[in-house]
Amino acid sequence: TTGIVQLVVNPEDTDAFEAADQVRSEFVIQARGIVEERPDESENLQLSTGEIEIRCSVIEILNEAETPAFPLDQSSEVGEDVRLKHRTLDLRRTEMQENLRLKSKLTKSIRDFLEDNNFVDIETPILTKATPEGARDYLVPSRTSPGNFFALPQSPQLFKQMLMIAGFDKYYQIARCFRDEDLRADRQPEFSQIDIEASFVGEEDIMSLAEGMISSAFKSVLDENLGEVPRFKWEEAMEMYGSDKPDLRNPLMLKELSEIFVKEEFKVFSEPANDPKARIAALVISEGDKIGRGQIDRYTDFVKDFGAKGLAYIRVEGSDVESLSSPILKYLSSECLSKIMSELSLKQGDLVFFGAGKKKTVNDYMSRLLNKIGLDLNLLSEGFRACWVTDFPMFEESNDGNLTSLHHPFTSPVETNLNKLDDLDVLEINSKAYDMVINGIEIGGGSIRIHRKDMQQKVFDLLGLTQKEVETKFGFFLKTLSSGCPPHGGIAFGLDRLAMIMVGADSIRDVIAFPKTQSAVCLLTDAPGEVNEDSLDELHITRKEE
Ligand code: AMO
Ligand code: AMP
Repeated sequence: TTGIVQLVVNPEDTDAFEAADQVRSEFVIQARGIVEERPDESENLQLSTGEIEIRCSVIEILNEAETPAFPLDQSSEVGEDVRLKHRTLDLRRTEMQENLRLKSKLTKSIRDFLEDNNFVDIETPILTKATPEGARDYLVPSRTSPGNFFALPQSPQLFKQMLMIAGFDKYYQIARCFRDEDLRADRQPEFSQIDIEASFVGEEDIMSLAEGMISSAFKSVLDENLGEVPRFKWEEAMEMYGSDKPDLRNPLMLKELSEIFVKEEFKVFSEPANDPKARIAALVISEGDKIGRGQIDRYTDFVKDFGAKGLAYIRVEGSDVESLSSPILKYLSSECLSKIMSELSLKQGDLVFFGAGKKKTVNDYMSRLLNKIGLDLNLLSEGFRACWVTDFPMFEESNDGNLTSLHHPFTSPVETNLNKLDDLDVLEINSKAYDMVINGIEIGGGSIRIHRKDMQQKVFDLLGLTQKEVETKFGFFLKTLSSGCPPHGGIAFGLDRLAMIMVGADSIRDVIAFPKTQSAVCLLTDAPGEVNEDSLDELHITRKEE
């Protein structure tokens, strides 16, 4: 057994008493004695062992400890940097103990589920070639191939596909992945994926398998029913929430209103209403009277930080158009105002915010506003709300105008006929990809893959890769595709993110024993560290003068 227990020593037991007198915080001791009921007045019903104590006859100090860097029961008062630097102390705290033990249960539940469904656990290499998942690679110089580098895997994507080609049908792995990208509360440079792939499957097969796996994990780890997992097409999710990671605990939604403003004079609205790449999104808040003038100004500043040019609003103070109040009323026709009222089913007390402009920008700031107001007004329901987002676009335009894959370049388009594909606008091509989102956090994503070489080549072409690049980066893979590749697909879940959501932590670092900071360093070990010139020489590396 493990836990906390109270020891009592009588002054008459001189040796034990003397030893006890030396004991300080975090010392390691061994004690022998008799378990007794505590006297009534010293019972502590908050503790599971609060009704007993051990009357000790022997106390031996096994090891002393320096004064701890912070009192373990006051961790919330020290900065996270201090906790990370003294991580072994920090991990002794009940909260961290519980988090990591829960994560272990989660891993077991996942393994049990997948093994019961005949999935085979296979390891894939850590020293490998680059796998594009949208981040920078961590590179490892090779001593034996001068000037060449391994890349640490951003995911086992290509290896799991090659395992399908190799006839393993159903693969899984709890795989370590490495991504050099900007870190946030739910991102670490190294993290674990529950990685899954299967042959001869369609979207439905993988989605129902994954849903079963996640539901059974919530049941066995937390005794929670995940409940219904609604599905949204990407387009719908963007229209209704401005985001492909909707938090369904939040009842707030966006409504598309462009139609109403097409013929209006007010340019702020009529221009986006007539631009197919733009939108006008309305966000209705009931009990909007809780949001005062000053708060509206703060929300306006908030969205401006994310590219909004302004934040128009209308208050509803009664049941008809006459009862509307807003600085923009004077710019809008009364016909338009009544359409706004009826389209949004406005009632007394409502407050409506409008975001107008390019879809990408409006979706970004309106989804942030929707989340923020949901939190500010305490509108979120308790517990866990999952959903699927499907039918993502294959490609998106990056800021420099180049095409990039929204998932990764091995994702199958919905249209699998190469000739028909050529007739489509590339940005209109949808993919057979699906993401699972819980409480507004993307916890898993996957797709049906391309299994034909000609299609894979086509997608590389569309992404603007030259033949030489394709050959050096993916030549080995294209070759295997033409050796008899079954149709296949899969998914990967972020194990750490899942654990973070389950324990209700705000940061992924609270479910990882030895995490890195936002600047990707380990404060405990001081990694990354310097290396000496000899090691660099062996690796054929010379340092650049800064
Ligand atoms: P994707 O890149 O969406 O897909 O990753 C899958 C899941 O891994 C988690 N995740 C992370 N967790 C912590 N820190 C990070 N830096 C991080 N990056 C991703 C997320 C995410 O949903 N090969 C594909 C999967 C597939 O197509 O089967 C892939 O890696 O929870
Ligand atoms: P202006 O004509 O810029 O003074 O804006 C008139 C009103 O419309 C102000 O209340 C602005 O906050 C609002 N507004 C301006 N641009 C936008 C926009 N792109 N989306 C929503 N509201 C806006």
